[in-house]
Amino acid sequence: MTVGRNGYGSSEQTREKLECFDKLITMHLRIGDALCKPGKDRYLYVDMNAGPGVVPDMGIYGSPLLFLNAVPPTLSYDAFFIENHPGRAQSLTQAVAAYGDDERFDPHVSICRGDHLAIAPRIVATQRGTPVGMVYHDPNGEPSFDTLIAMSHLPQAHRLDFVIYFGATSIKRANGMRQVKALADPNMYIESRVTPLVESLSRIAKRHWIVQQPLGKWNWTYVIGTNWADFPTWRKAGFHAVNTEQGQEILDRLTSTKEERAARSEPPAVPYVPRVSQTSLIPPSPAASNPSSNGHV
Ligand SMILES: C[S@@+](CC[C@H](N)C(=O)[O-])C[C@H]1O[C@@H](n2cnc3c(N)ncnc32)[C@H](O)[C@@H]1O
Repeated sequence: MTVGRNGYGSSEQTREKLECFDKLITMHLRIGDALCKPGKDRYLYVDMNAGPGVVPDMGIYGSPLLFLNAVPPTLSYDAFFIENHPGRAQSLTQAVAAYGDDERFDPHVSICRGDHLAIAPRIVATQRGTPVGMVYHDPNGEPSFDTLIAMSHLPQAHRLDFVIYFGATSIKRANGMRQVKALADPNMYIESRVTPLVESLSRIAKRHWIVQQPLGKWNWTYVIGTNWADFPTWRKAGFHAVNTEQGQEILDRLTSTKEERAARSEPPAVPYVPRVSQTSLIPPSPAASNPSSNGHV
């Protein structure tokens, strides 16, 4: 993602990302509506990177407004939009106020100005029971894996699905940079140990993972972690469970570099020549194996 003039990430992928998110959140809210008992359960939505509400220069809704737009009128919910940039948090407050004249939206929406590293785990930890819902993480750079990991281990997070959107190439590059620094400075080894994507995901306490076919040279992708074995995989949009062949291929592409994959598929430098003599593969004739035999029975 290139960071635009105003510091807010935007790219040709933004539109596709938001179109996909719109469908994902609509589908998820419908499932939530079916699972939540009216008057008893509340759906929980935590947007760790809410942004300004409306994408600058594009005039399209960002994730918080897409969420509000998609909430079924029958669903009770609590939505937390976290944004650490003061100007964007201000724009978001105005966008939600303008959008949310409908009394359904207040007071269920909280706009949290500050760092999701501290705020998101606190929101989840203070929930009653195990709400159904979604934690959405759409960072500008590398995902905040440590926070996702810590949050996922909270008992309240058991039925929260984690949806993460990121450019896998940025993780690979960041890992590469750490490796280079570690090579230059042997004292950095411990701190700069590379954490591959698969390892980070496996430390998030979610039993099932669904990955999307990545797009563009930054390998933009959605990955979804859930404890629900029947979470619908949306193949038309390129989503595959990681326990399928396509899912494994996608995960490999997100984790390894082109060079690493090419090296794996290259034939060995020295061709393998079996050290077996030609004659040993031909069964010996009875005459040859029994020199005393004249060939008659
Ligand atoms: C890619 S944008 C998110 C876009 C948004 N999800 C949307 O659909 O419009 C990332 C946002 O996360 C915010 N951000 C970055 N680090 C954050 C942090 N630690 N806590 C809260 N917000 C953060 C940035 O200011 C930026 O607005």
